[in-house]
Amino acid sequence: MNKKSILSLMRPTGKLHLGHYLGVLTNWINLQEDSEYDCYFGVADWHALTTKFDETDSLKQNTNEVLLDWLSSGIDPEKSNIYLQSLIPETAKLHIYLSMVTPMNWAQRDPTLKDMVKIMKEKGSNEEYSYGLIGYPILMAADILTFNAEFVPVGIDQVAHIEIARDIARRFNNIYKTDLLIEPKPKLTQIPLLKGLDGNKMGKSFHNDIKISDTTEQTTKKIMTGITDRSRLRKTDIGHPDECEVIYPYWEIFAKQEQKEEIKCACEKGEIGCAECKKRLAQIVNEKMNPIREKRKELESDTNKVKEIIYEGSKKARIKARETLEKVESTVMIYR
Ligand code: TRP
Ligand code: SF4
Repeated sequence: MNKKSILSLMRPTGKLHLGHYLGVLTNWINLQEDSEYDCYFGVADWHALTTKFDETDSLKQNTNEVLLDWLSSGIDPEKSNIYLQSLIPETAKLHIYLSMVTPMNWAQRDPTLKDMVKIMKEKGSNEEYSYGLIGYPILMAADILTFNAEFVPVGIDQVAHIEIARDIARRFNNIYKTDLLIEPKPKLTQIPLLKGLDGNKMGKSFHNDIKISDTTEQTTKKIMTGITDRSRLRKTDIGHPDECEVIYPYWEIFAKQEQKEEIKCACEKGEIGCAECKKRLAQIVNEKMNPIREKRKELESDTNKVKEIIYEGSKKARIKARETLEKVESTVMIYR
């Protein structure tokens, strides 16, 4: 039985927040439960090196944090292939073959390349961008094509990259008169957009996020700072959940139907103050996240556990990678 492969990678940026959990991880978990698919989920540590080649200490730390978040959230090594990009040498090899057939201007037209160069300049980096960074989309194509993935669950910002991967696969197939490489399709995730506590996009660099790994106290403290209905001054004022910028939308996402209705009603009648409302919300968020956090602590205390899981997962993933590479090399190279 030949299952379709689904693949996605994440750069190791450090501890993940609830936006990642709801927007990415819960979606991956649903996919791993779907028996139609073989799932490959990887940490893109080579991609992190394209811009942070001199920050290897934090790279190691961050890789571990991301994996702890994945595993405690329910990405399951028994059901999915969980791997580390740099433990799949086949991807590096495929990257070489693909780089030969990729016109230079395909890499240069990549819109996020321009963004990344801009970010590096803004950070005051005088470094010229590297050969490796220009290769970002070709490396990403190699990630996908090593496992011949049919679908790639990503956010809208990554779609341009998948397009380049499709173009490269098609060009490879045309040049070598083969149908070996599958043209991957993006699988857009319907993200329930979770705002940061200040009303902006949730993000680590904005200091407005709640981490998966935050404690109960940290979570409650953060939620207490969340923006509410700005026109509401006293707790007996009538509130407007529709104009409550952050807190009511969180109720929408985290609470059960009856709970939402109750809060909405109490707010509209001026029967509940915002402080009390936030306290109750914090409780609900904590109830949802606490089992994950406990599991995370457990994994963390077992020092070699994560490493073992990622080595095993990568070993398992390489079976498929090797299969693809053998076919690619017997197509392209004379001596095999
Ligand atoms: N570029 C992706 C990001 O920044 C990470 C990534 C690397 C990826 N290789 C991939 C995503 C392959 C999907 C498929 O989020
Ligand atoms: Fe928002 Fe709750 Fe305050 Fe109403 S009571 S404005 S829902 S925080």
